Amino acid sequence: MELNQWIYILLSLLLFVFLYTRHYKSGVPQTPKYHHELGGIKPQPKAWTWDHQEPVPYRPWHNGPYHVTMGLKNANITNWIEVDNTYLPKYRLKKRLFADSDFRPEVLQVLPGCDEEAFEALELLKDVLLRQYPSMFQLVDSHRLENKVTGDVWDLRREAETWKSFHPLEVMSLLATEDFFLLKTDEEGVTTLRAGAVCFPAGWKISQRIGHSLWQIHAGKVPQYESKLAKSMDRFFVKLPVGGSISRFNYAIDDSNELFHIHSHHNLTLDPRGSPLTLADLHLRVERQFLQRLPRTRGLLFSIRTYITPISEVTRDLELARALRTSVGSYTPDVAKYKNKPLWNDLLQQHLNEVLGEEEEGHSS
Ligand code: HEM
Ligand SMILES: *[C@@H]1O[C@H](CO)[C@@H](O)[C@H](O)[C@H]1NC(C)=O
Ligand SMILES: *[C@@H]1O[C@H](CO)[C@@H](O)[C@H](O)[C@H]1NC(C)=O
Repeated sequence: MELNQWIYILLSLLLFVFLYTRHYKSGVPQTPKYHHELGGIKPQPKAWTWDHQEPVPYRPWHNGPYHVTMGLKNANITNWIEVDNTYLPKYRLKKRLFADSDFRPEVLQVLPGCDEEAFEALELLKDVLLRQYPSMFQLVDSHRLENKVTGDVWDLRREAETWKSFHPLEVMSLLATEDFFLLKTDEEGVTTLRAGAVCFPAGWKISQRIGHSLWQIHAGKVPQYESKLAKSMDRFFVKLPVGGSISRFNYAIDDSNELFHIHSHHNLTLDPRGSPLTLADLHLRVERQFLQRLPRTRGLLFSIRTYITPISEVTRDLELARALRTSVGSYTPDVAKYKNKPLWNDLLQQHLNEVLGEEEEGHSS
């Protein structure tokens, strides 16, 4: 062949490759790149240790009327995972619950078809922990993650033996203090709960809610859900973009400091344990919830962080005590019922009168 024939063939080939790749790029949806903005995560200083870190004292009420709302705030993955001095006791409790065959179905439920989401979520958590808590989490080699506090070493390769005994969400739950859930939205825009590792449920059972839609989970239980929340929640779950995350809080007054709380604790007028409550039984239970969309699989990753504090500790701050009195005093009957107000209100009011002084009595209720 002549030289110019060679050049002609070469040029045609180049043109073909150019056009083909252009077509491919525009016509075929690209798999979204696995990508997280983790650059903003600041590592804890060298001197930081988990056991010297007090839990963040979230007090999600204000000195005004209580309303059932979505209450969503834009959040940032830099604030997703919190490690504090409750880490090890909560880890030990989680480990016991997962390992006990009686309790395992109450703390871990997984439907088929969300492996990819679960492994993506675990990978994200690993990346965050390594960046944020370098004194606590380290890579032993390219695929094994060591937890210096618990002594666990997790082989995280897909082909590892780990998955014969553990589910990725369970490993996440044993790495962090949070409870973790995966949700997926179908073509009709219905979002359902596909998996959950939840050792600290606030009065509900994952075994009874797995596979349920947001509507099935909340309707008939959460006051004003149907009228005030359902529509905007569904819309919100469909629209949440990759890279965006939100957080929301709720608070409850509980009759114990029990973390693993599967018995229903709504609409109670009597303490299920039968004995009369004392002030020492009353605890504030705060949930910090965090929702984000996973970039690769587009699954929804939901986490709940539970904080339990004795009421008498909370009310040391008199401004907070006053605001709590207002908030509780403004509950509508449905909310009062849901939050078991008849169960604890007398004790709480008596206590608030003591710390705030009698002269403020009756300002609300
Ligand atoms: C981000 C959107 C969400 C909103 C606005 C929302 C709203 C609420 C509200 C208002 C309550 C009543 C307790 C409280 O004051 O918080 C509640 C309870 C609950 N939520 Fe959600 N929720 C959301 C997401 C989820 C997700 C993703 C799950 C999946 C696990 C979930 C599971 C539950 C459960 C199990 C309860 C307890 C229901 C009961 O008392 O039986 N929520 N939610
Ligand atoms: C999260 O915070 C970091 C650092 O503060 C910032 O660089 C980043 O843009 C934030 N991301 C979002 C989604 O707001
Ligand atoms: C609590 O009471 C409300 C209002 O009476 C009712 O609609 C709801 O189903 C009850 N919830 C539970 C868990 O019993």
